[in-house]
Order: sequence, then C-alpha cells, then structure tokens
Amino acid sequence: MGKQLAIVTGTSSGIGRALAERLVADGWKVFGVARREVKFEGDYQHVQLDLSDPAAAAQLGPRLEAEMAFASFSRLALVNNAATPGQKRSYGEQSHQATFRNIAINLSAPMALMDLVVRIMPEGAALRVVNISSGLAHRPLGGIADYCSSKAGLHMAGEVLAAEGHENTAVLSYSPGGVDTEMQQSLRGEQSADFTSVDVFRAMHEEGQLAPAEAVIGPIMAFLENDTISGFHQERFGG
Ligand SMILES: NC(=O)c1ccc[n+]([C@@H]2O[C@H](COP(=O)([O-])OP(=O)(O)OC[C@H]3O[C@@H](n4cnc5c(N)ncnc54)[C@H](OP(=O)(O)O)[C@@H]3O)[C@@H](O)[C@H]2O)c1
Repeated sequence: MGKQLAIVTGTSSGIGRALAERLVADGWKVFGVARREVKFEGDYQHVQLDLSDPAAAAQLGPRLEAEMAFASFSRLALVNNAATPGQKRSYGEQSHQATFRNIAINLSAPMALMDLVVRIMPEGAALRVVNISSGLAHRPLGGIADYCSSKAGLHMAGEVLAAEGHENTAVLSYSPGGVDTEMQQSLRGEQSADFTSVDVFRAMHEEGQLAPAEAVIGPIMAFLENDTISGFHQERFGG
C-alpha cells in the first residue's frame, strides 16, 4: 500500500487528539489543525490556526498542495472533527457575532476543507471524508441552536459531497455519542442561568454516560482504512 495522508482538525484535545495518535501509530502521515500547539512522536505536522478565520484557514491549501507535489499518496483522508459547543444562549439572548463565528468553525470551515481535498486529490487515490456529527444534529436542544444547526448542516454537506459522485470517494457522518472531553466540561460547567439545557449535560456526566475519547475512534479508523467502500454512510457509536 502507498502512503496515506490524513488531515484531522481539532487534534489538541478529545476525540481529535486520540484519533491523530492512533493514525500516526498506524503509519499514516497526519496534518493536524487546532489553535493550540500540538506535538506527537512520529509523522505528524501541526498547523496552528483558528478555523473561524477564513484567511487563516486558507493557508492550509498551499501547504497541503506542496506536500502532495513532493510525495505520492494512495489515500487521502479528511476528518472534520474540530467544533465549538456554541454560545449556550437561547434566542433573544444571543450574540450575533458569536453565531457567525460558531457556524464558521462547525460548518463553513469543514465545507471549505471538503472542497480543498477534492481539488488536491491525487489521480487514482482514494478519498475518505469523516464529518464528526452529533445526535444533536437531529434533536433540537434549547440554548445551542448554533451547535445543533451547524451539525445538521454538516451532515447534509457530506451527503452532497457523496451525491456528486467523485471518483474513489466515501463519506461518513459519525456520531460518537457522549464522550468525556473538554466540550462536555464546557457544556456542563456553564454557569449562566441563560443556558437552559445545562442539566442535560450534568446528568450525562453524573450518570456515567460519557465514554473516553479512545473508546469511540474505532469506527472512524475502520472507515478510513476500508478499501472498498464508496458513497455516503452514517454511523452512531454503539449502533
Ligand atoms: N464530546 C461529546 O460528547 C461529543 C458528542 C457528539 C459529538 N461530538 C463532536 O466531536 C468532535 C470533537 O469534540 P470533542 O468532544 O473531542 O471536544 P474537544 O475536546 O473540546 O475538542 C475540540 C477540538 O476542536 C478544536 N477547535 C475548537 N475551536 C477551534 C477553532 N476555532 N479553530 C481550530 N480548532 C478549533 C480544539 O482545539 P483548540 O482549542 O486548540 O483550537 C479541540 O482540539 C466535535 O465535532 C464535537 O461536536 C462530541
């Protein structure tokens, strides 16, 4: 098998960090993206940028194109994992600036990255795109309209990519279930009384419903390494 390159956003914590570590250990070259600096042993390059900033995110294209020009990859993967839990405010209480920013991180940047990987795909290589979705893409929860809406949009954005029928391309919309990460800490730790759904997240934690990040990455690895799959797929951790 030839070289395999994975672009993974949000590698500084949680699911993205666990996934990047596993990919590197399995012999993939990984390009990770986050605002914080990240270092791993092995073939890992980190791009420190804020995905809410279109100008910063545009720097990724030239760096990846240069990488592609110097090496031949038989498989290219994109894992749109980075996300913000949003502003945790109901309608009537929201910051419009925060709405624009959060949709940029959770939806616009992943769509731009999907466009980028289709452009730079080496001929004959396989493209695997995983969009990290959420049960909240399909379940309205008060106070996190930006999160629920962007996850619903991301699910559809992946379906459109698959429907376009690009060669050797498969897309997975993956919902990891409740995972014990910084995002969950931020949701259950919100102090403002304006966040009406905080008890949902506190109960998930208190009732032991959160899995460790390492436990939920198996289906992503299986999908990325599947040679024969194509089209659109959706999966939820634990079925
Ligand atoms: N945890 C759960 O229960 C759960 C459930 C369903 C779905 N998910 C999804 O799983 C994915 C991973 O979340 P997680 O739970 O692992 O959360 P996490 O630990 O908070 O990780 C989020 C990652 O996204 C990065 N990120 C956030 N804003 C960014 C920005 N503006 N620019 C660049 N990177 C940014 C963070 O890095 P920096 O802070 O360094 O920028 C971090 O690496 C998300 O898509 C989330 O919606 C999680």
